Amino acid sequence: MGMTAKYRFIDCHCHLLPNVDDGSYSLSLSQEAFRRLREQGCVGCVLTSHMCFGNRRGYHWFPPRERIEAACEELSAVSAPFPFRLGAEVNVQDAHSTLHGLRSGKLLSMAGSRFILAEFEPDADMDFILDGVKVLRGGGYEPVLAHPERLAAFMGHPENLELLAKENVPVQVNAYSLAREKKAPVREAARRALELRLIRWLGSDSHPPRRWPQLSEGLDYLYSHAPQDYADAVAFGNAERDFFTVKEK
Ligand SMILES: [Fe+2]
Repeated sequence: MGMTAKYRFIDCHCHLLPNVDDGSYSLSLSQEAFRRLREQGCVGCVLTSHMCFGNRRGYHWFPPRERIEAACEELSAVSAPFPFRLGAEVNVQDAHSTLHGLRSGKLLSMAGSRFILAEFEPDADMDFILDGVKVLRGGGYEPVLAHPERLAAFMGHPENLELLAKENVPVQVNAYSLAREKKAPVREAARRALELRLIRWLGSDSHPPRRWPQLSEGLDYLYSHAPQDYADAVAFGNAERDFFTVKEK
């Protein structure tokens, strides 16, 4: 029996599907990342490989479905220490193309739900982000912004996080941004998102071996700066409901 982890969480943003994007490039790296996640209290995860349909240069990037399925099978065969679901970090450069990619099945939503983990370019401006959200919502999807703390629009711009709150746009924050992050503007934006109660999901954004999952300090920060019911929802409750409960048809 291993030690009981201090926290319980679901990792909603990670690049652990082997050989699909710039994250894990081998089954053993994925297994090691799973082991580290489990050790920190992970009880489930959504695998969110990078995908894009229609960027500024008219370029599409999405892994072939067969490659994703093969990688999933590999992972299942080694039996992960917790259940995982398939999702994607969908890069939005032209929201209409993104919508087309989603509808044609080339891009993946989160665990087959209506939720999209939507990543905007680091220099995307606020109008562009809000327009993109509107287009995706208009298409019947529910975008959740991937790590807004890493975007120029939100670093040093708490007013833009407030704008998200006003528009009810939820976000995913990288756990390490809350505490371990050395760049103050990134850390402050993540913390402000927490204060504003914008966070729906937490992620590791791990890309082993260059970035291993590191959530403990972020969870410490979360639980010491938010009421327990909100912290529980962010750490695992929302993701459990969004991705892991069997829905009656
Ligand atoms: Fe990512």
